[in-house]
Amino acid sequence: MAKGIVIYYSRSGNTEEMARIIAEGMNEKGLETESKAVGDVKVDELEGYDAIVVGSPTYYGHMAGELKGVFDELVSRHGQLDGKVGGAFTSSANIGGGNETTIMGIIEAMLISGMVVQGDPKGDHYGPVSIGKPDERVREQCWRRGQRIAELTKKLAS
Ligand SMILES: Cc1cc2nc3c(=O)[nH]c(=O)nc-3n(C[C@H](O)[C@H](O)[C@H](O)COP(=O)(O)O)c2cc1C
Repeated sequence: MAKGIVIYYSRSGNTEEMARIIAEGMNEKGLETESKAVGDVKVDELEGYDAIVVGSPTYYGHMAGELKGVFDELVSRHGQLDGKVGGAFTSSANIGGGNETTIMGIIEAMLISGMVVQGDPKGDHYGPVSIGKPDERVREQCWRRGQRIAELTKKLAS
């Protein structure tokens, strides 16, 4: 059975809350998914997932170093994530605070790894963005993104 994981880094809980809602949306669509802080993830376990979603606070327009470290560590297993479904999300303090570049940085690393990333023509195009604590709009975006990732993953796995 296909499985998913949502990996996040979060100091003050905003990204963590987004991760939890995305994982709930994925589970609700029938893709068994767990949400884990990056410190609890071992890179060699990632091969066992069909969908890998990564969320980071925006730090100077980029993902947090803790998450970049996971991608850097993956180089020794380069190609192992080929064909898996990816997705990204972020929380920043400000509108225009570098949130979309943060998401694109995560997606770039996923594409280099061979992962499949779907955009969204109606919701947050690149991935859910929260300004500070997730509000109702953000919660809806996270739920929608989780559901879309689960649908695509199940389609590709069948
Ligand atoms: C080191 C550092 C760098 C940050 N850089 C930015 C930034 O470039 N743009 C921005 O809007 N917010 C920036 N922030 C604010 C965080 O992105 C924001 O508070 C976020 O919601 C924190 O997420 P968390 O609650 O999951 O830790 C920065 C925060 C820290 C600690």
